[in-house]
This record gives sequence, C-alpha cells and structure tokens, in this order.
Amino acid sequence: MNQLLEEIYSTKSVKDAQGNSINPFPTATPYDIGTILNELIQKNNLERTLEIGMAYGLSTLFICQAHHDKGRGIHTAIDPMQNSVWKSIGLLNVERAGFADKVRFLEACSDEALPQLVAKGEKLDFAFIDGSHHFDYTLVDFFYVDKLLEVGGYVIFDDIWMPGIRKVVSYILRNRDYELTKVDTKGSIWEGLMKSTKRFLQNPFEREYGGIKFIFNNICILKKISEDTRHWDYHRSF
Ligand SMILES: C[S@@+](CC[C@H](N)C(=O)[O-])C[C@H]1O[C@@H](n2cnc3c(N)ncnc32)[C@H](O)[C@@H]1O
Repeated sequence: MNQLLEEIYSTKSVKDAQGNSINPFPTATPYDIGTILNELIQKNNLERTLEIGMAYGLSTLFICQAHHDKGRGIHTAIDPMQNSVWKSIGLLNVERAGFADKVRFLEACSDEALPQLVAKGEKLDFAFIDGSHHFDYTLVDFFYVDKLLEVGGYVIFDDIWMPGIRKVVSYILRNRDYELTKVDTKGSIWEGLMKSTKRFLQNPFEREYGGIKFIFNNICILKKISEDTRHWDYHRSF
C-alpha cells in the first residue's frame, strides 16, 4: 500500500501546508473501507472514478493507488470546502503521494458540478458518494451519478449507519436496476452484528430494504445492471 497512507493511518495525523499535524478522524475514510474501494477498482479494472467529498483526501489516495497499480485510470474529486474548511490538505496529500496527474479536482457543490459533467457527456465506471449526508442531497448525487455511470459500473454509499443514506439505497434497490454487491467483511463478525443491531434499533418500524441492515460494513456497494427503463408511472414503496 501507499507509503503516505501507511504513515497517516499509523500516526493518525495529516499535515497542512505549514507542517502542522491534524487528526483526520472520524471525518476521514477508515483504512478497511479505503482498502475495499481500492480492491474493487483493481479487481474490476475500473478506469473512470469519481468521489463526492474529498476532505483530507484519504479515499482519494486509496482510489489513485488503485489506478497507479493498474497503470491506468483518472479520478475526479468534488468538494466545495477543500480549500476553506480542509485547508487544501486533500490536494496536498495527492501531490505528496505523486498522484497529481491522476486527479481532476472540482471545487463546487456536487449538485452543481455533476449536471455539468452530464451535459459534457462524460461517463464513469465508479462513484463514491461521501459528500453531504442529507437524504435529499444524497438522492440528487445518485440521480446524476446514475446518468454518468456505465452499465456494469459501481456506486458506493458511505455511512449507511445513517437512516437517510439507507433510505436512498432502499429507493434504488426497490425502484432501479441495481444489485447489492457482497463486500468482504474486514472487521469481526461481532462488530458487524453490533452494526446491524444498531440499524434495527434506529428505526424498527421504518420500511427499508432488508438486506441493507445486514451489511457488516459501513458502506454499501451497488452495481448498475441496466439503464433506466421504468414505465412512466412505475413506483415501489421504499
Ligand atoms: C466525510 S467527509 C469526506 C471524507 C473523505 N472521503 C476522506 O476520506 O477524507 C465529507 C466531505 O463532503 C464534503 N461535502 C459536503 N457537502 C458537499 C456537497 N454538497 N458537495 C460535495 N461535497 C460536499 C465536505 O466538504 C467533506 O469534505
């Protein structure tokens, strides 16, 4: 794995432009999740990747490392607060790791940047949604990502411990032609069971696609099976 990533996870710190150390957690992507993203991209040879929510750039580094190891691939990172809130640390980390030529950075809100990519006719093989965690913004992120995503591509939702994110995933699995992809559990079975139990207790009476509660990780990987062919009045409760 990448030397900078090893250093960041072992010291639990990232550095700003002045060399000051900052603990990036819990904001940043945990190591096990980053590894899952990296392996998914490598195993499926995914070339055009995108992430919504860069922050300290840890997910960015895992994704770019996959492109580096495959010898091909280009990554787009969207974040409106990279320079203001995150002191450009994500971009600095990309440079420090030698991945600057693999990243296109868009400093904008995803609901503004994504429609522009759609208008340009761009296409994607992979999208990691980890931006605004509100239900409406996450649904809008998916709406545009779906237009960009090739059939056979993957969309990954982070933080499915949040009911609003699970609701979006539930909508997709009940209404769109996407398939839940099995993720190899990196943590212990006990940890996984705790996560599932918490999800049940959060909203025991809420309708939700059953399988989501049983995912032992904090992310959900969906594979696009076909383009949208719904009849105009199609709807399944979610
Ligand atoms: C949990 S952090 C992402 C962590 C990052 N993946 C990492 O590994 O360091 C969420 C990020 O989403 C960004 N964000 C919030 N609202 C957004 C929006 N509307 N569009 C795009 N990004 C947004 C925040 O600035 C923040 O950087």
